[in-house]
Amino acid sequence: MRYSWAELTENLTDCQKCRLCEHRNHIVPGEGNPNAQLMFIGEGPGQEEDRLGRPFVGRSGELLTRMIHAIGMERSEAYICNIVKCRPPQNRNPEPDEAEACLPFLRAQVALVRPRVIVLLGKVACRYTLREEIFITRDHGRWFERKGTWFMPTFHPSALLRDPTKKRDAWDDFQKIREKLNEINSAT
Ligand code: URA
Repeated sequence: MRYSWAELTENLTDCQKCRLCEHRNHIVPGEGNPNAQLMFIGEGPGQEEDRLGRPFVGRSGELLTRMIHAIGMERSEAYICNIVKCRPPQNRNPEPDEAEACLPFLRAQVALVRPRVIVLLGKVACRYTLREEIFITRDHGRWFERKGTWFMPTFHPSALLRDPTKKRDAWDDFQKIREKLNEINSAT
């Protein structure tokens, strides 16, 4: 399905394709530059995101924003979204049927933004995009090319908050993202 931005918004409004609609306060579609070169995909909204209807605005969002700044970019230059657009209760992982029900929206976002680089924040984001068994500790920082788009798994910011010793590796991943964007921009 090829959506325009308006159709995407219309289809998301009052979406009841899965049980996550039952407890949500707000749908969290995503936000950022509609022509971004860089897209971030997380797992699903948390409490603060559900309250405000915006992705990555809680503690892990603050960290993500700092990491984006660290590679010389503003958050508004990227596009930020999630696998599921409604908060799973108690922040549990989305169930496969919930993720599958929501994926057409993510596919539409990718088709509209057409990012060159997609950063996958954590295992859940990898599972439903790369469709490969990914272990973040093993595969973070690796590039996966799919139809001309570069995908990189890295740590979810909440994993970095739980275990700050992983921040060094995450920092190295972000440097690789900066290098990839520089490479893309110097070739065009
Ligand atoms: N965690 C996510 O995966 N996404 C958000 O939007 C916030 C926290």
